[in-house]
Amino acid sequence: CGGISHAYVIFGATGNLAATKLLPALYQLHCMGQMAEDVEILGCGRTPYTRDSWQEEVRKQFVEAGMAESPCLASFIQRLDYLSGSLKDAGFYQALGKWISNDGECANNVIFYLSVSPDLYVEVTEGLAAANLLDETHGWRRMVIEKPFGHNLESARALQHSLSDHLKEEQIYRIDHYVGKEAVQNLLVLRFANLILEPLWNRHHIDHIQITHAETLGVEGRANYYDKSGGAVRDMIQSHLLQVMALLAMEPPVSLQSESLRDEKVKVLQSIRPVDLEQLATHAIRGQYAAGEISGQAVPGYLQEEGVAPGSHTESYAAMKLYIDNWRWKGVPFYLRTGKRLKERRSMVAVRFRRPPMQLFHGSGISQPHPNWLLIGIQPEDAVRMEVSAKVPGLEMRTRQIVMDASVGHPGERKAEAYEELLLDVIKGDRSLFLRYDEVKAAWNVVDPVMQRWGEDEQLPLQYPAGGWGPKAAEKIFEGSDRAWRHSL
Ligand code: BG6
Repeated sequence: CGGISHAYVIFGATGNLAATKLLPALYQLHCMGQMAEDVEILGCGRTPYTRDSWQEEVRKQFVEAGMAESPCLASFIQRLDYLSGSLKDAGFYQALGKWISNDGECANNVIFYLSVSPDLYVEVTEGLAAANLLDETHGWRRMVIEKPFGHNLESARALQHSLSDHLKEEQIYRIDHYVGKEAVQNLLVLRFANLILEPLWNRHHIDHIQITHAETLGVEGRANYYDKSGGAVRDMIQSHLLQVMALLAMEPPVSLQSESLRDEKVKVLQSIRPVDLEQLATHAIRGQYAAGEISGQAVPGYLQEEGVAPGSHTESYAAMKLYIDNWRWKGVPFYLRTGKRLKERRSMVAVRFRRPPMQLFHGSGISQPHPNWLLIGIQPEDAVRMEVSAKVPGLEMRTRQIVMDASVGHPGERKAEAYEELLLDVIKGDRSLFLRYDEVKAAWNVVDPVMQRWGEDEQLPLQYPAGGWGPKAAEKIFEGSDRAWRHSL
């Protein structure tokens, strides 16, 4: 067989993540010519598909999702195979071993993608190890796991302990799909491929930074997972938003090699000051959506969603104020917030600069100079905007804010999906965009005390109507300063 040969083995292949993200991303890589000829994709699940019926099922899913029948789709489908069985059954791993070796000398490099409940990570790893499928004598074996990595600091440690009994750190790919988004990677480029931002990128010039991930969707049939193991802090802040914060705040890395990049990110995470639990109401705010309207459609409240426990305290909204105790950022607040069933779907970073030291333009009708803002859209728009003051045309010396605006992509350019980039990186063995265990641990360290304190609180999270911007009290996080949430670019 020519070239590197490898197989993707997807556990949980009949689940939602595989259908909506993994298989479409592999399909795109296939069509872009990024997949070697002899790569096979093995779906594993309990549903008893055969190779043929699985291929037909995936083809149907793709067409239903709006993809056109094409030679590319037809040739992609030919790469698919299926193995049914229970992940709890030793016989399943034996059969998997047989499939891998039956594939001949070529299928020696294998990616095991665990698109299953995190409770099963250890069991699957042990099953694979017992069948000797993690041994790298005849090619590499890599395991991809999805967040959450544990549900708190202690369980993250226990998970790491169990995984490292069978896998070397280099074999573990902890995926945080947010880091694979084009606009999130662009944060590195904006900061380190330009010179104009870096001299200003510190406590002397920046007043504060906001990181927002707002969704209009609710729990969308994931209540079973979200209500027990999620909540806005675990589901979004511990992973995605702290990663964005680390990329915004880190020092220039020595290189873009995975270890250099992750060394710098982890220093930021380790420098985050513990949240002040005595002042929790102004440092961390949690909310839960009540019934309301999204784009004119009535939607139920969180507690009425199917699968949510009666009286559940799980938060669907969280906002946190964090400080990084290092030379660059001491005293600069980072405000992170995320919520479901909010007014708009929008993820963005808003950097507010300090005000100029004095107001020269007394005739301008404003008592204070406007601060500059740098706004970076992550989704839906991938845009960079800068708000600056300029003279209003006319005889008077009056000023107003104008916007310097640029969309990142050019018309007609296709944005790569996060999973395309990340799945390709796993084949290449590039771990830069995957989380290292020390990052995960440092991130749990930040959120764990807050979650524990909330866990002891008998009050329900603050209720907010679906379709708004979250609980009113989330403004309290600014403590009466002249700061307020930016909801749009
Ligand atoms: C996932 C969370 O990791 O990220 C979801 O579990 C959330 O609750 C999603 O909706 C948001 O990511 P994206 O890429 O859909 O904006």
